[in-house]
Amino acid sequence: MEINSRLSRYDLTQTYRWNYDNAPEPAEIDVPAMRGEWTFCGRAVPSPLGIPAGPLLNGRWVLYYASLGFDVLTYKTVRSGHRECYELPNLVPVETGQLTGTEERLTESRTMNGSWAVSFGMPSADPEVWRRDIEETRNKLAAEKLLSVSVVGTVQPGWSIDDLAADYAQCARWAVDAGADTIETNFSCPNVETCDGQLYQNPTEAAIVAEAVRQAIDDRPLILKIGHMTESSNAEELLEAVGAFATAIAMTNSVATTVRGQSGDLLFAGQQRGICGEATFDASLRQTSLFSKLVRERDDDLRIISVGGVSAAEHVQSCMKAGAESVHIATAAMIDPNVALKIRRSWQA
Ligand SMILES: Cc1cc2nc3c(=O)[nH]c(=O)nc-3n(C[C@H](O)[C@H](O)[C@H](O)COP(=O)(O)O)c2cc1C
Repeated sequence: MEINSRLSRYDLTQTYRWNYDNAPEPAEIDVPAMRGEWTFCGRAVPSPLGIPAGPLLNGRWVLYYASLGFDVLTYKTVRSGHRECYELPNLVPVETGQLTGTEERLTESRTMNGSWAVSFGMPSADPEVWRRDIEETRNKLAAEKLLSVSVVGTVQPGWSIDDLAADYAQCARWAVDAGADTIETNFSCPNVETCDGQLYQNPTEAAIVAEAVRQAIDDRPLILKIGHMTESSNAEELLEAVGAFATAIAMTNSVATTVRGQSGDLLFAGQQRGICGEATFDASLRQTSLFSKLVRERDDDLRIISVGGVSAAEHVQSCMKAGAESVHIATAAMIDPNVALKIRRSWQA
């Protein structure tokens, strides 16, 4: 199997817009099958490997990573209106070991050692643009691969939680009409200050949004993407509140903390940012185990999707053992677009 070290990747030194406009063409690579029977939200897929919301800025990025051995492709979170990206830097490598969530501050690293602070602010193209793009992308994507679309509501001054829920639902309906196979609601974004960024910590409000989206998308699978949780009681409360509406829960979005730059100043105006990549693997695996255990005890059919720090076949195996149905990779896939091909190769071995 071909491993091409010159495959294109996201350019951290360039703006989000530049990367949006300069998506690579699909690679012509022979992708080895991944032995086993795999599902995503109960639907048959060729492998458990997916890309979560983030690296796939538009349909061209979806088709690129689909050509590199990923079978569940999540379209980066979209909104009901255009939203600009935060200024550069959007991705800042950090020095850290495995994170527990108790860290107050990390330091910027001169080199990428597997983990970085992520600061995009959930930009979105205009709905007309992303709706057309999703439709075209679904038409071009191989039939056996799934296109999941991540959506978020955009809080406006004076809005109630019902208004926010309706905005999430509107985006979800548009995505389904454009051909999305599954819908993901982003309930966790440490990089925005509004309540949509912390919905997973508020079971009552999370349930209002999940119910509105469920009604808007009929029987289409619904994934709730959540942030870092360690307390069993909080996880139980969340599952109790949203379990009736969701098909799956995806975790862990990131582990949030502040970052000190090389110059000694705090980056991002001293606000927290989500740390993604290698340093979140242990936390994500623990959370997968916790939620899987609770789901088993509840005896319902909720699926768990593991996200956070995965970069090797052993990680995939650990996540599946911990109860994940599917395993998604963002950071490692951006750093090394060959990662799914490498995982497949060692899986065969
Ligand atoms: C560049 C980048 C952009 C991201 N954007 C989003 C986003 O728009 N919505 C979302 O739910 N998560 C977003 N995330 C979080 C990822 O979906 C994922 O939860 C996180 O990166 C952990 O996986 P990893 O350790 O494999 O990177 C983003 C992550 C990265 C690296």
